[in-house]
Amino acid sequence: MKLTFYGHATFSIDVQGKKILFDPFFTGNPAANGVSADTIEADFIFVSHGHGDHTSDLVSIAKRTGATCIASAEIASWLHQQGVENALPMNHGGYINFPFGKARGVNAVHSSSFHDGTYAGNPLGFVFSTPEGDFYYSGDTGLTMDMQLIPLWANLSFAIMPVGGHFTMDVTDALHASDFVKTSKVIGVHYDTFGYIKIDKEAAVKTFADAGKTLLLPAVGETIEL
Ligand code: NI
Ligand code: MN
Repeated sequence: MKLTFYGHATFSIDVQGKKILFDPFFTGNPAANGVSADTIEADFIFVSHGHGDHTSDLVSIAKRTGATCIASAEIASWLHQQGVENALPMNHGGYINFPFGKARGVNAVHSSSFHDGTYAGNPLGFVFSTPEGDFYYSGDTGLTMDMQLIPLWANLSFAIMPVGGHFTMDVTDALHASDFVKTSKVIGVHYDTFGYIKIDKEAAVKTFADAGKTLLLPAVGETIEL
């Protein structure tokens, strides 16, 4: 599997010949480093919640690529209203079978609304089971005991989790979360984009290393093999 990081909590994963894009935020993203939404390819777009730093380019990329969007029922119906035809609703506890494997919606402890205050349903995390390995994207969330359920459903090769603190888990809680979900490899997202969520990257990597685990913080535009 290949993961490409686009800054903040935007990344894509190539699995089984499909491109899965997550939480597209290029326009207005100070961490996007010149990467434009206009050139991003996607077969599927998973949306964890409605906040602007996860959805600013969702409609334009969905329309241009024709990608299938997977999100809460409320976000899916909002997408239909915006003229996006391929939107699949999901909620906590359900799963959907895709050509690349199975994706399950799980709890995320956060909030979820659009820029104008419209309710966007429950925030979601996603657990993926694929022939190339299993992985988890927590979405924006605090540390929660529900993460301990995830090993019932998947044997994770890695997890993508926020490490920036203030609105979500910080590095220490992401390390606890990695224990809960039983993985030793975490790709950190949702840090350094704004003043609130600046981290000491070297210290963050060391926190994981001291626990015998790996924290990867790819550069914007960097592709890593997992
Ligand atoms: Ni958020
Ligand atoms: Mn966010």
